[in-house]
Amino acid sequence: MIDRWGREITGIRFSLTQKCNLNCIYCHKEGENTSTHELTAKEIERVALVGAKLGIKKIKFTGGEPLLRRDLKEIIGAISPYYEDVSLTTNATILTKEMAEDLKDAGLSRINVSLDTLNEEDCEKITGRNCLKDVLKGIESAGDAGFYPIKLNMVLMKGINEKEIEPMFKFAKENGLILQLIELHTSKEGSLKDFYRTYHTDLTQIEERLRQKSSKVVERSMQNRCKYFINGGEIEVVRPMHNTQFCSNCKRIRVTSQGELKPCLLRNDNHLDLKHALNAPDEEELISLFKECCLRREPYWR
Ligand code: 5AD
Repeated sequence: MIDRWGREITGIRFSLTQKCNLNCIYCHKEGENTSTHELTAKEIERVALVGAKLGIKKIKFTGGEPLLRRDLKEIIGAISPYYEDVSLTTNATILTKEMAEDLKDAGLSRINVSLDTLNEEDCEKITGRNCLKDVLKGIESAGDAGFYPIKLNMVLMKGINEKEIEPMFKFAKENGLILQLIELHTSKEGSLKDFYRTYHTDLTQIEERLRQKSSKVVERSMQNRCKYFINGGEIEVVRPMHNTQFCSNCKRIRVTSQGELKPCLLRNDNHLDLKHALNAPDEEELISLFKECCLRREPYWR
């Protein structure tokens, strides 16, 4: 599937639930509203298999918190043979070693953990819960189960965790993790607009400093996303805001937990509901909805 802007769709990001055991102050909830309806495992598998049939190679499961789905292992087991890369973004608070091993056996390839700070108080301020120890235990479980690389997603917020880039990088380096610095983002009309105005921080200077310290800088092929190698550690910077290059290289569509195809993270006005298609006995309608989703794609920043 190639969209009108010449972007081939190679990734799908699948929200499995809106439920979450944390309440992070910056969470964009993958652009979802508050409906609590969730797709069943069978429905998720059908949608994912149609995506694979249409050439999508990578799938990422998110939430809410995807580990809250008791059927996660079954879902991953069912779809993993059809994808080259199956990854999970989680807060890891409830990730035990046994769970991590089960997910690995089911075919999960990679885990990204949301962690914005190593300071307990800041962690509570950001997530609404004193959960740092649980997250660290979860990361250890993922490592023990053999996941590699594990990435840490750190969303940067002015005056909250900017000062923690260094300790986070040190922690990542010492534990063989990759630190991913993520620019706080929101859509032009999104509910996070006011939060964004107060806490958004531009990553230009931070990136410049990283560049100076690096022994090697690698730009990910056409993603306008650099990886910096510093003293044996690795740090990536993701800057989606007002970034035309980021959008022009976007190759991913999304599925909301209640079952809509979503052409762009930052838009909520062009979803396609899969309900009717999921009641049909064959996949024709699902396939045409994927194609329509592809047609509706346009770069948000251009
Ligand atoms: N800005 C940047 N990143 C965000 N995430 C969630 N909300 C935002 C936001 N407003 C990221 C977190 C989390 C992942 C699921 O989404 O890094 O790890």
